[in-house]
Amino acid sequence: MSSEVAGYRAQADSIREAFERKFERFARFLNKRINGENVVDVTEFNLSLEEAQAELRALSDLETWYVGRKSQLSALKKLIGKVSPEERSGFGQYLLLTQIAGTDKIAEVESNLQSYIWKKRSERERVDVTLPGRRPRRGHLHPITQLRQRIEDIFVSMGYAVEDGPEVETDFYNFTALNIPELHPARSPQDTFYTTGGLSLRSQTSTVQVHAMQRRRPPLRVIAPGRVFRRDTPDATHNPMFFQVEGLLVERGVQMGHLKGTLSEFVRRLFGAGTRTRFRPSYFPFTEPSMEADYSCFKCNGAGCRLCKGSGWIELGGSGMVHPNVLRAIGINPDEFSGFAFGLGIDRMCGLMYELDDIRLLFENDVRFLEQF
Ligand code: DAH
Repeated sequence: MSSEVAGYRAQADSIREAFERKFERFARFLNKRINGENVVDVTEFNLSLEEAQAELRALSDLETWYVGRKSQLSALKKLIGKVSPEERSGFGQYLLLTQIAGTDKIAEVESNLQSYIWKKRSERERVDVTLPGRRPRRGHLHPITQLRQRIEDIFVSMGYAVEDGPEVETDFYNFTALNIPELHPARSPQDTFYTTGGLSLRSQTSTVQVHAMQRRRPPLRVIAPGRVFRRDTPDATHNPMFFQVEGLLVERGVQMGHLKGTLSEFVRRLFGAGTRTRFRPSYFPFTEPSMEADYSCFKCNGAGCRLCKGSGWIELGGSGMVHPNVLRAIGINPDEFSGFAFGLGIDRMCGLMYELDDIRLLFENDVRFLEQF
């Protein structure tokens, strides 16, 4: 062999040695020869999908370095044509074997890594159709709505229908029909928001008494929960918009005992069987006689605590026997029909039940507050 070709072969050997050193990190991805058999257990690779993909890229870089167009091995191959014809085929073969020694290993590792990647991918993308679905995070109803629904349920079970009425009203429904004529002093504590067209936001749900009687004619039993508005400055116990429930029963032969029995039963169902009631004389233009209803404090059971301000009683709301003038305003004969009515503040009751020190919390809709109910 000429010294020239011997030199080239030595170069090829050192390229191959350099390759072997670079290839060491991939050796563990080669097949194992066990009992003369070629085996591979890709699960032993122990790589994440991303790591395996990175290995594959590094392998491809090594291939380029070894046999790419600008590799040292390619440079040697260009010399094949320059050596003497007698030595040409031997030298060519030597380089080819050198090349194959590397590319065979590369191909084997590439195929093993590829199947590992497929396996990892299909594991990640596998869908277990028997798994229960993920429950979407659900919200819940506002505490005022929850309480309103409990109140509705109690009255519906006593035969009442749930009525609705407009929030924008005429003077007739908000005041006149309820026996509150113009210039009557009862208008001032219920001062509300007026539009230029003679309409106003209702200041009480008592308006629905009038709508309900016009719509249904007696005998009737209705409750009317809803929003009302007053020109109050917001503070811990006031808000210019709040919620009431109105109740109205008009039938033949209704008297005060029916009213007391109804409200007593209502608080027993809402706060517990041991809840007691008491009634105090009061005044409302649309009822005669009128009374305020109180119930024994649900926290101290009447002993007196901070919640009931030491009295043992909590105010439920106003009530009374429907004033004959209200019946007359809608063309109902007060000698034939009589009835009772009551009005309760839902948010005030809600505030007490949850011992809120500021009623405005109920209207700010801060999720951190609402989540607690
Ligand atoms: N509408 C009254 C208010 O807002 C509450 C009320 C009192 C309603 C007595 C009634 C009632 O039906 O009979 O202050």
